Amino acid sequence: MNLPRGAVMALGFTSLAALTIPHSVTVAAAQAPVADSVSAARANPANWPARPATLALDSAVERRIDELLAAMSLEQKVGQIIQADIGSVTSDDVYRYHLGSVLNGGNSDPGGRYNAPAKDWLAAADAFYAASMRPNGKLPRIPVIWGSDAVHGHNNVVGATLFPHNIGLGAARNPDLIRRIGAATAIEMRVTGLDWTFAPTLAVVRDDRWGRTYEGFGEAPEIATSYAAPLIEGLQGRIGDKDWLRGPHIIATAKHFLGDGGTHGGKDQGDAEMPEAQLRDLFSPPYLPALDAGVQSVMVSFSSWNGVKMHGNRSLLTGVMKERWNFDGFLVGDWNGHGQVAGCTATDCAAAAVAGLDMYMAPDSWKDLYRTTLAHARDGTLPMARLDDAVRRILRVKLRAGLFEAGKPSDRPYGGRFELLGSKEHRALAREAVRESLVLLKNASGLLPLKPEATILVAGDGADNLTKQTGGWTLSWQGTGTKRSDFPNAESIWEGIAAEVKAAGGSAMLSPDGRYTKKPDVAIVVFGEDPYAEFQGDRPDVGYDDPKSLALLRSLKAEGVPTVAVFLSGRAMWVNPFLNASDAFVAAWLPGSEGGGVADMLFGKAEFRGKLPYSWPKTSDQTAVNVGDADYDPLFAYGFGLTSTDNGDLAPLSEARASVAAVDPGVLFAAGKPGSGRRLLLGAPGALSTNPGPQLIEARGADRAAQEDSVRLRWTGAGTAVAAIVQDSPTDLSRQSNGDLALELDVRVDTPPSAEVSLVMGCGAKCAGGFPLRAMLTEAAKSRKWTRIAIPLRCFEKAGVDMARVETPLSITTSGKLDLILSSARIVSPSGPVLQCK
Ligand code: BGC
Ligand code: BGC
Repeated sequence: MNLPRGAVMALGFTSLAALTIPHSVTVAAAQAPVADSVSAARANPANWPARPATLALDSAVERRIDELLAAMSLEQKVGQIIQADIGSVTSDDVYRYHLGSVLNGGNSDPGGRYNAPAKDWLAAADAFYAASMRPNGKLPRIPVIWGSDAVHGHNNVVGATLFPHNIGLGAARNPDLIRRIGAATAIEMRVTGLDWTFAPTLAVVRDDRWGRTYEGFGEAPEIATSYAAPLIEGLQGRIGDKDWLRGPHIIATAKHFLGDGGTHGGKDQGDAEMPEAQLRDLFSPPYLPALDAGVQSVMVSFSSWNGVKMHGNRSLLTGVMKERWNFDGFLVGDWNGHGQVAGCTATDCAAAAVAGLDMYMAPDSWKDLYRTTLAHARDGTLPMARLDDAVRRILRVKLRAGLFEAGKPSDRPYGGRFELLGSKEHRALAREAVRESLVLLKNASGLLPLKPEATILVAGDGADNLTKQTGGWTLSWQGTGTKRSDFPNAESIWEGIAAEVKAAGGSAMLSPDGRYTKKPDVAIVVFGEDPYAEFQGDRPDVGYDDPKSLALLRSLKAEGVPTVAVFLSGRAMWVNPFLNASDAFVAAWLPGSEGGGVADMLFGKAEFRGKLPYSWPKTSDQTAVNVGDADYDPLFAYGFGLTSTDNGDLAPLSEARASVAAVDPGVLFAAGKPGSGRRLLLGAPGALSTNPGPQLIEARGADRAAQEDSVRLRWTGAGTAVAAIVQDSPTDLSRQSNGDLALELDVRVDTPPSAEVSLVMGCGAKCAGGFPLRAMLTEAAKSRKWTRIAIPLRCFEKAGVDMARVETPLSITTSGKLDLILSSARIVSPSGPVLQCK
């Protein structure tokens, strides 16, 4: 088989050191017409419920905005509508480009440390604020606002209280609890100087394959609809109160508008294919109480409706949200989401603002976006009236929040009161939320509640594992890579159980693999999904596969030990074999920092009252089973949940698992072989095969941690030769490129390259882009140690790769000599430093 020729074509690179990628910006490019020219995706606002404005405009505020607008430069107006990520912007940039806002993406933290201490957050907030207020000639000074995903507590900051993710709160069916959680979260954000949360998610989730299922309160609109107002009032305070949007309160965001949970196949950033009435009736109800409660910002969804990206949908953004619903706050975009609008790129997209977007979330793209947007404002592609309206909305929110007079974040109420992060009261509230969120699915012979005076074995890889129990959006975007010491104000499930058992005079033993010396009276086995976020959590079905935990449950059963399964997950999953193998089964979702809340329930400190917010599947391919379906046939219905006095017996269930093609787009090479659907090919450019003979290049198995878990590639130097991972059908990596995912290679270099080496990604005929690698490999050869090279996918995109059709995700070419061992090549959220391609 021949490698597509383009994949190994000569590259236009020059210097390796900086990985500098030249890219030009087309400043005056005319924008494609806005997206609602596609009629299937054009809503008719008259079909949507009318709603009056929440508040009459305050004439003093509007006058002040008029004055500000009159005094602002065009540059300042453009800066105001752009939000940059703290990983890609300095406070000096905020000053120079007049940026209106910054955010910290899930992987961005002060100083680049995922576990930066709270005081560093506050210092960063002060620095950004000071930059925005630094005198600049005659220009008015406008305070910056900082947005953060405080989606289950102030989850980016070490020591914060971590509430159960929304899926668990949905099970609680308790709006008052939700109000108090909002209030506690707002205070913890204020402690670190932050103004604004990108929460609540009001998604109604219809297909549990979606990696964001746990961010939604449920599959029917009613739960999110009943929670929207209390949560927003908890976060923002109540309209009319003196401390609305200030003091202990912050600004909230309803997201993601609209239809994020309704995409085809549960695909993240996918397409909600449905008639207008369905979009309206299933997905919009929670937004109405959110607006009534005065939510000040709404985030636009990454997803499409009938093939058109929401960021370009004027009929919904302007027609419905602003005109029909009289929303007078501002619409913020999602992470470079504007770049996905037809005819746009992340750095050039007037169409989104024309459609109604007020603030671009342009994490790493802000600088070029600023330039192109300025040009569009000058030439009228972005009409001045629209720009002024966007700025007006942002200023209105800042004025309502009192930011112009608030002083620096550390001087505001609660600023720097670090003792409030993970305070006793907040943790007690989180523990209460855990108790209310657990759903009891099985309780054969009334095994629960357990007696804490008993001898109890606590097993499973989730028992003493805060990473797992807190889930995604915890200190890091994916929630991975954390360690026990990152959670000073938390208790694992094991720790919670141990404390209660000890207090009652019983005995508890922790044994993740379930081995014991003294036979226990009962075993609690905690297991479940590893953390994930967004599309990285998308799955081909809802079958839960975990042979280790299943074997553990079965062996305990065989030994006559009654077992309680505690299942951690971000969605309802097919677990029939696990239900069969356990006596009691508790869906614990992603409970957060308070493992003691789980212990409370197991020992009967409170009665189970959680009710399923999502229907529980009967088969592993029942991915979109929702209450109200015509042929509704789940294993446990929406709203199901036992109490400990109910008959909790369950007849044996079928263990037949529907098969799926589980292709992991992220694995290019691992465990000694190419990822599924991929092959390793070698040879001269244009003549690759699996076994070309040793003339130019050869491949042999090599050992790193296990036998033949790696491949040794040796280029002889007798001519130009390539080693490539190729696939028959192209992969769409465009979503993966819109963020910080990287191609990560683990290599060891035994003989340094004797000539330049190129690393290339290919996307079909005459389509490729890449980087020189020689200097890096030479460096690696000096230590002869395993070296990790991580190149952000967006660098390949900038280098010309069409990420929507990658055919050769990796090829390495040289005409010189080179001896290199490759142990893994993956597309991942990088755990270490990445190369820069600015
Ligand atoms: C997510 C949003 C989030 C934003 C900022 C996006 O990828 O879709 O929910 O608020 O990133 O982190
Ligand atoms: C950020 C997230 C963001 C995601 C978008 C990540 O790099 O940390 O906040 O939601 O990219 O794909």
